Amino acid sequence: MRITMIGSGYVGLVSGACFSDFGHEVTCVDKDAGKIAALEAGKMPIFEPGLDHLVAANVAAGRLKFTTDLKSAVDGADAVFIAVGTPSRRGDGHADLSYVFAASREIAEAVTGPIVIVTKSTVPVGTGDKVEEIMNELVKDHAVAVVSNPEFLREGAAIGDFKRPDRIVIGTEDERAKQVMREIYRPLYLNESPILFTGRRTSELIKYAANAFLATKITFINEIADLCEAVGADVQDVSRGIGLDNRIGKKFLHAGPGYGGSCFPKDTLALLKTSEDYETPVRIVEAVVSVNDNRKRAMGRKVLKALGGEGKGKTVAILGLTFKPNTDDMRDAPSLAIVQSLTDAGVTVRAHDPEGMEAAKALMPDLHYCNDAYEAVQGTDAVVIVTEWDVYRALDLQRVAAAMNAPVMVDLRNVYPPSDAERAGFAYSSIGR
Ligand code: UDX
Repeated sequence: MRITMIGSGYVGLVSGACFSDFGHEVTCVDKDAGKIAALEAGKMPIFEPGLDHLVAANVAAGRLKFTTDLKSAVDGADAVFIAVGTPSRRGDGHADLSYVFAASREIAEAVTGPIVIVTKSTVPVGTGDKVEEIMNELVKDHAVAVVSNPEFLREGAAIGDFKRPDRIVIGTEDERAKQVMREIYRPLYLNESPILFTGRRTSELIKYAANAFLATKITFINEIADLCEAVGADVQDVSRGIGLDNRIGKKFLHAGPGYGGSCFPKDTLALLKTSEDYETPVRIVEAVVSVNDNRKRAMGRKVLKALGGEGKGKTVAILGLTFKPNTDDMRDAPSLAIVQSLTDAGVTVRAHDPEGMEAAKALMPDLHYCNDAYEAVQGTDAVVIVTEWDVYRALDLQRVAAAMNAPVMVDLRNVYPPSDAERAGFAYSSIGR
């Protein structure tokens, strides 16, 4: 199959590289000439484990190409995937679809034969209908089918998620499009990954419902964690105790500082906007969004409490800035709200993150950025683990305590058993234990 990927960001690049690895002929398109030049030189615009090797191998095999020339990339393609950004629109929280529609018009003008257009970007219900209208208006001589095919990739584990998905969701009622999609995903189909064919609007909603459900699961356990702290229970055991019930499931029950990232915050808001537009409230998700927003600030207060209630004149080390490990992504990271509430209280912040410091510097230029965890904790009054990078899991706690002004640890990811931290002399607090 000849596949064209419009947008070489996170989703487009990972999907394009994986499709080419299946043996398809893939061209990734992006308007950003600098990004395309870097990709051609083998430089990845994002940090994602394994992506550089996957790209290099498929470029070398001649199956993966990069270009800024959308027109020539669409010419002769069997399928064109739209994988451009759909950020939250400033002011109202609706998904901003201007990139999707602009790409659709450009694709329509470049179509030279029968083609399948696939929306991979996360788009609100009904977007496929609008893309179809654009196609019907601008493409006169060729059969065009518009399909929804949401992605369920986790940053940091995206290649594995793409190649061994729990399911593939394909929204179309067009028989030719189904055939093309079946062919594109055939290697996974052979691996027995379930493919769910459904209507296009249903497929669009599945993506939002999945992310909102996962965000709900996390928020649920976060509130249970607060209750655990109040009543003297252990949230890790509660998670295990409920998660072993197959109807609940073990995953996404890890209590922490609140979810962040490029998907959950934006997609829950967009789902609420759709529910408003259709006057069908989804009250659980309304609560999830508000609880999660409050939680990030509450984490700042938790640190201040560990400092004895007073921030002025204190110095705190923040370990982990990205919204989760194995990514350099700072979008909606809990660290941003935590650092803000600390600096508002007069705290000086020293910080370390294995991959996220470049992006963090642009958002928080006034922190003292350090080369590793041990440097970050020098002379501080508390150390806060915000992101559970592996390098923070086996710190020499005695060395950390000795380097600090006061050995206080706030472990927002429950990385350490309380007894280990206490043995090293820490006044230790964590989440829900
Ligand atoms: C998510 C979805 O998992 C993926 O299917 C979708 O396509 C995109 O959004 P991602 O944002 O990359 O992926 O990360 P994920 O691993 O889901 O974590 C999201 C946030 O939830 C992070 O801030 C993480 O720290 C938090 N989280 C996750 C918890 O606090 N507890 C958990 O148990 C799991």
